[in-house]
Amino acid sequence: MRKVPASCCNPESVSSDAAPLEASQIYAGCGSPVEMAAIKEGEVVVDLGSGGGFDAFKASRLVAPSGLVIGVDATAEMIWRARETTKKHDLSNVEFRLGEIEHVPVDSNSVDVVISNCVINLAPNKGVVFKEAYRILKPGGRLVVSDIIAQDDFKVDRKDLNAWVECIAGALPEAEYVALIKQAGFANIRVERRLPMSGGTEESACCTQGIASVTITATVPKEAESKGSRIR
Ligand SMILES: C[S@@+](CC[C@H](N)C(=O)[O-])C[C@H]1O[C@@H](n2cnc3c(N)ncnc32)[C@H](O)[C@@H]1O
Repeated sequence: MRKVPASCCNPESVSSDAAPLEASQIYAGCGSPVEMAAIKEGEVVVDLGSGGGFDAFKASRLVAPSGLVIGVDATAEMIWRARETTKKHDLSNVEFRLGEIEHVPVDSNSVDVVISNCVINLAPNKGVVFKEAYRILKPGGRLVVSDIIAQDDFKVDRKDLNAWVECIAGALPEAEYVALIKQAGFANIRVERRLPMSGGTEESACCTQGIASVTITATVPKEAESKGSRIR
């Protein structure tokens, strides 16, 4: 079985069998949202901050033949690479859209599952991102997010660009992170997995004590019929 090795932003090795090598090689996640999302055939899945497409490609095998995975990323180079990989392997049930996770280019109430892997920590306004996830999800839809969170006493210089690149400058304490998900309207919020970030190299700031990778699941209440006013 091919595996993405454990690393700084990826505290456990992750199976990469279901994703093309080109996507595995530039994987930069910190958890396994696809494995925890119980994705089914026919579902519509959106991956917020899809990068090279690692999780989107894995999810696309699960929704096939009738479902669709939409990867959204703000970096044109990432979208280009993911599209090239799609073309090269003639993959279907997956597409990539250039856009911000604060303004997701997806219709309201149209998605079954939103996943995201090590991205929302980078967003200065995480509350807006969770509101966007809530807007695009159908009533009963699921959110499965792997991300980096900070312990309460974790101190980081938020002006240090390296700390942003290492996905730690924007990390919030778990309680604050969960509160933002709740404020967006989600229910059944559960921290499913919590792993200390201990896999990196010695010189890596990611190995600093006080940060962890978590995977959080939540759902849109089934009765949330009239949510989301912005239709695209
Ligand atoms: C650490 S990488 C993770 C990529 C991918 N999820 C993975 O696991 O390989 C973060 C990704 O988020 C994207 N990103 C960061 N901020 C974003 C934003 N505001 N909107 C959309 N994408 C964003 C970056 O372009 C980058 O591809």
